[in-house]
Amino acid sequence: MCGIVGATAERRVAEILLEGLRRLEYRGYDSAGIAVLNDQGLQELRRVGKVQALAAAQEETGINGHVGIAHTRWATHGKVTKENAHPHVSSDTVAVVHNGIIENHEALRVRLQGLGYSFQSETDTEVICHLVHHELEKGHSLLDAVKATVKQLEGAYGTVIMDQREPGHLVIARSGSPLVIGLGIGENFVASDQLALLPVTREFMYLEEGDVASVTRTQIKVFDSNDKMVERQVHTSDLQYDAGGKGEYRHFMLKEIHEQPIAMRNTLEGRIDGDRIAIDAFGPQAEDIFKNIKHVQIIACGTSYHAGMVARYWLEQYAGVSCNVEIASEFRYRSSYVFPNSLFVTISQSGETADTLAALRLAKTLGYHASLTVCNVASSSMVRESDLAFLTKAGAEIGVASTKAFTTQLAGLLMLVAALGRANGVDASIEARISHALASLPNKLEEALNITAEIEALAEEFADKENSLFLGRGDQYPIAMEGALKLKEVSYIHAEAYAAGELKHGPLALIDAQMPVIVVAPNNELLEKLKSNVEEVRARGGIMYVFADKKAQFKSDDTMRVINLVHVDEIIAPILYTLPLQLLSYYVAIIKGTDVDQPRNLAKSVTVE
Ligand code: F6R
Repeated sequence: MCGIVGATAERRVAEILLEGLRRLEYRGYDSAGIAVLNDQGLQELRRVGKVQALAAAQEETGINGHVGIAHTRWATHGKVTKENAHPHVSSDTVAVVHNGIIENHEALRVRLQGLGYSFQSETDTEVICHLVHHELEKGHSLLDAVKATVKQLEGAYGTVIMDQREPGHLVIARSGSPLVIGLGIGENFVASDQLALLPVTREFMYLEEGDVASVTRTQIKVFDSNDKMVERQVHTSDLQYDAGGKGEYRHFMLKEIHEQPIAMRNTLEGRIDGDRIAIDAFGPQAEDIFKNIKHVQIIACGTSYHAGMVARYWLEQYAGVSCNVEIASEFRYRSSYVFPNSLFVTISQSGETADTLAALRLAKTLGYHASLTVCNVASSSMVRESDLAFLTKAGAEIGVASTKAFTTQLAGLLMLVAALGRANGVDASIEARISHALASLPNKLEEALNITAEIEALAEEFADKENSLFLGRGDQYPIAMEGALKLKEVSYIHAEAYAAGELKHGPLALIDAQMPVIVVAPNNELLEKLKSNVEEVRARGGIMYVFADKKAQFKSDDTMRVINLVHVDEIIAPILYTLPLQLLSYYVAIIKGTDVDQPRNLAKSVTVE
């Protein structure tokens, strides 16, 4: 989604703002803008396209100042134009950047027009700057004007506002869209994600829902939703490496695919001890809570939803608890039945996805026994608002297409299976099997990446294809779904996934020589069934690409390319089989020449509905 950066300092801040935007660019990238206050008053620059276009304009104009705000935009209301890019300005004095959606913007717009304000953009955001200006005109300070403004807003916002009359002062407000304050020495910063500020500070203060804060060079004051001045804890970021860099890789996606062995090692470190997993990886109260759990309700979106689908197969087979999985945007708008002794589980890389977060908040009102999140961002709303949390330690994921977050989510979920199995009196051999299989994973993932060159060559065969079909059975069916999602989002080739047994109920009609069929083969009792499905495709002239364990004994021929994968315990096969599908999507995208890390129309961390 959109990214926000702000700074107030003794030094000039344009470069800090632009570097912050570069680091957030992966979240939203159709246009960008910056506004600063200096001796000439308020100056702003906006450009359609990448941050680089804005940086070039800043260099050309030399616009700079000791306080400023900046934004990368991913269009929600209004086309991708310079006029719709942020910051928005009212009466040449008040500037605003905003993430989220103001749902009552139309009514506010009409009211403000009645008060004489004219609008320069089609955005919902522009109402904020005019409202603040209107409140300032009543004689309020900037802080009070913002407090009065947010009371009138419905919807989601993370917003930063500055006003020419109070130079050096940023006022920020959060409801539904995250904001963090970065603490410097004699200077302070704000951003929608700490990643933006890592070059200037490691000390962060996270705003809570409903907070409004006043930030100057030397002082930070936070007010909660009841307008009470509150202290928010300062956290020191332990982000280990320069998440902003691609290292030796051409794209973040490729880097992140190759980081999976290390991400897995970090996620499992200290959490497996011989035959047992460490239940406290889910939090200090996990053991007590898990004893009461008889049902699991999983909620997530996109790739994280696919991780939840795999977990359902595992939980029912190995932990003896029933499980439902649902997409967050569906769950939150229907009346659902809450099974007794249910654990409500959210899965999210970012921990900020609007629909998943809203589902978690809803679940808290519905009588679930407890909530757990499997999440990659320790400081996220979902981690803070859940009873239990399993932190995947994948490191910052910058590529829009989720890769290492997914496989580490699966590892966390498999640990949950072992933990709930133990709590439910399942035979200890299951936990031992899971522990050993997980412990072997980092090395197995490394071995799996050895087929990179083979997949790169295979990708050539997809260059002229417009459609594709992914097939899987059992816990490999969600992996087929994930493979299809990855291919469509980064290469723009239409891809659909089916449980292989469904083929004859309709999709078989699509099969011809132009339709590549990608098969993820399990190595269990479903293998023979899958082989029959493969024959159904072969008989209709379909071309297949089969990812299979050597022992499955598929043989390449005119109609079938077999890609053999390293042998693993079938329990972790869904994790391992994800890698070649990620690589395939990546290399097909390279051939297609798409913007792999920032595919069109997409954004990382979807903090709006
Ligand atoms: C696809 C992808 C998305 C996310 C989805 C949920 O590659 O990344 O489908 O998985 O937007 O995001 P999180 O996991 O942050 O809740």
